[in-house]
Amino acid sequence: MDAERGRFIVFEGGEGSGKSTASLAVVQRLQAEGRPVLHTREPGGTPAGELVRGLLHQPLTPWAELFAFLAARAQLVATVIRPALDRGETVVCDRFAPSTFAYQVHARGLDPVVVRTANAAATGGLEPDLVVYLDIPPETGLARKHGEDEAIRTGLEDLEFHRKVREGYLLQARAAAARWTVIDAAFPPARVAELALAAVRTTLHG
Ligand code: TMP
Repeated sequence: MDAERGRFIVFEGGEGSGKSTASLAVVQRLQAEGRPVLHTREPGGTPAGELVRGLLHQPLTPWAELFAFLAARAQLVATVIRPALDRGETVVCDRFAPSTFAYQVHARGLDPVVVRTANAAATGGLEPDLVVYLDIPPETGLARKHGEDEAIRTGLEDLEFHRKVREGYLLQARAAAARWTVIDAAFPPARVAELALAAVRTTLHG
């Protein structure tokens, strides 16, 4: 008999939200309990995807940037995520399509209909069973990531962009509330991880 398809869990958040720390803590807990869990990230997770991460240091037009992210996603879904889900493993991925809708659509202003179609082609229609979104005001997140002085230097234009990113996430969370959990990333990391783990457990046992 085929193994039951595994659950697909995505961690999302703006810069400095602590999503990678939280997802790692959750993965380690589940693995310690003997559950097969594959932890991956976007962009990245495959050799081609890691090259795409390097490409993002180049100045790219918004559409070029979109297709770079989608190239990494298509490769990751086909060669890593789907095979693991088909083996019955839980897959935890740092960032996925919700990043594209927050950054490229909501913040950069790309046409949502075109992006939705292109994204569905890249993923073959794969959707997360759960999105764990770590919510943080961009002022706090950027200061965490780069230090206070650097955050001040990033300036208002950057801050405005990251405010739109956050808005884009919150709109998605509202539109798909049953599949999203929003966690206040201002909590200490251990508390964030605990809340994330509780949400993941509900999805795994549901
Ligand atoms: P990270 O290492 O913090 O996850 O950085 C990845 C960057 O790529 C981050 O600024 C968000 C951005 N990104 C997009 O703009 N669109 C996407 O679809 C993805 C996956 C990431």
